[in-house]
Amino acid sequence: MRLTPRGVWWFKVLMHLMFLTPIAFLAAKVLTDNAGGDPVQYIIHYTGMGALNALVVTLVISPLAKRLKLGFLMQTRRMIGLYVFVYASLHIFAFVSLDLLFAWGFLLEEVVKRPYILVGALTYIILLLLAVTSFNRLKKKMGRSWQKLHNWVYLAALLAPIHFYWSVKSEIIEPSIYILICCGLLYLRKAKFLKQH
Ligand code: HEM
Repeated sequence: MRLTPRGVWWFKVLMHLMFLTPIAFLAAKVLTDNAGGDPVQYIIHYTGMGALNALVVTLVISPLAKRLKLGFLMQTRRMIGLYVFVYASLHIFAFVSLDLLFAWGFLLEEVVKRPYILVGALTYIILLLLAVTSFNRLKKKMGRSWQKLHNWVYLAALLAPIHFYWSVKSEIIEPSIYILICCGLLYLRKAKFLKQH
């Protein structure tokens, strides 16, 4: 299916709404005191899940676009990738500001003490590198190394659900499902990985 440039524009507007509405919803919940018994935990959970879900959506796009011949979907990949970064940044900001009260020394301590925080931090470093190099001008300048760098998204897609799995105390079904989904989405790209090695 093909969309006119106007159709693509509207589709992008719809995608922006899809990712911005949950943030507005979270703000409304917090401001009206409806964010559960432990609002800090609620915000960290909500934004962490938002980042992980957005990451899954970015990985679903290209197999979906290929299989259903929906080429225009590929034009939304960068935008959704940036939403992964936005949600992950909100997640970390909530942790550092509301949980650690900006005690940066504590953050370093947490990274060293808790392996799941280290895994989260590594994932975030990858997302940060991808976000700052996502612009067309840099893409052109970087040439082939741009694609190599952006293939690191596949490592982020493994690390993020591991961080989730490791962070939970008992309920492991949901994080296990995310690990399986991410592995499945990476498996769909096995031909690409084999070609590169
Ligand atoms: C420096 C980076 C990060 C830090 C410090 C961090 C910190 C945390 C903390 C403190 C929790 C809550 C654990 C608990 O319930 O006690 C958490 C959970 C979680 N994080 Fe992160 N995180 C980081 C990066 C990321 C990234 C990059 C993603 C996704 C792309 C992510 C996704 C999640 C998810 C899905 C959860 C589980 C939500 C829950 O059930 O509470 N995190 N993280």
